[in-house]
Amino acid sequence: MTATSFDPAGLAAAVPPPPWPGPPLPPAIAPAPVPASEVARRSPITHVRYVALATADLAATVAFYQGIWGLYEVGRDGDVVFLGAVGSPEPYVARVRQAGERRTDLIAFGAPDRAAVDGLAARLGSDGVRIAAEPGTLQLPGGGYGFRFFDPDGRLVEVSADVAAKPFREIEAGESVPRKLSHVVINSPDAPGLVAFYERYFGLRLSDWLEDRMAFLRCSADHHSLAIAAGPVAGLNHVSFEMRDIDEYMRGTGRMVRHGHAPLWGPGRHSSGDNVYSYFAGPDNFVVEYTTALERIADEDAWVPRVWPASPEYADRWGTAGPGEDLFALWHRTPPESGLWVPAPV
Ligand SMILES: [Fe+2]
Repeated sequence: MTATSFDPAGLAAAVPPPPWPGPPLPPAIAPAPVPASEVARRSPITHVRYVALATADLAATVAFYQGIWGLYEVGRDGDVVFLGAVGSPEPYVARVRQAGERRTDLIAFGAPDRAAVDGLAARLGSDGVRIAAEPGTLQLPGGGYGFRFFDPDGRLVEVSADVAAKPFREIEAGESVPRKLSHVVINSPDAPGLVAFYERYFGLRLSDWLEDRMAFLRCSADHHSLAIAAGPVAGLNHVSFEMRDIDEYMRGTGRMVRHGHAPLWGPGRHSSGDNVYSYFAGPDNFVVEYTTALERIADEDAWVPRVWPASPEYADRWGTAGPGEDLFALWHRTPPESGLWVPAPV
């Protein structure tokens, strides 16, 4: 038996490994001509503040969001419970109300000051948008000054400023509870029209489209705070909560699995926004998401919106998320939103 010889010098003649081709990128769409003043104009919206839900089972809903999801009760007023995030100064990021039905009560956004609240309310009112509550002092935890209106789908929206911050702290390494509300996604039978509405009045800027299915809109450096999905009926698509980092996001995902809540889709990584995701069916089949590592857009003028294909290599960049059939099936059997054009009682 002859010993094999190994010649290190021969390695130099070997074929080198292929270069990493980089992530698959879609073709960029040419930016539409936008007046410089529009680019520079600051949005009258600073962030998404909270989502208010109604449920037929308040105890079970609070038990889920507090006991498993990682929020905590910051206040209670009769049949309304306010839930905060450990890492957020927002007085609460979710509000849950006992009712005889499941519905989305409202989505709330923050404004920089009272003048922005008044200006937005006046502009909407003068353009014929239905105002549900004129600007005034809010009788809710954190107080503040705000108003409510119905968007073109009949969705109730609150905008407020001067809300008192609650105590908050940094999330520790390994602590798998939400740091803050990341973003809200809504369904609309007229997604392009609703995108135009929120661009016009909220000054939101388009970050990307996912084909013609979903538009991602920003009011800050976060890639999206609001996204609008094309759907047969208006409703809430999902609510996303930001975790500290990938490790904490995975620990949270694992906690859900251990409590019998397998992800409907995920864990995975999107292309649009570059964020990671695990989607779950929450109480009343409201879809909630753990996310982190959302893309930041530092240079407004340099950003060119893209149109991402919805194929798996883009929508599930890691290839770990599964087909998502359970998520889409849940959305299909979700009843139409009952709260459209109906002011919330709280
Ligand atoms: Fe999301």
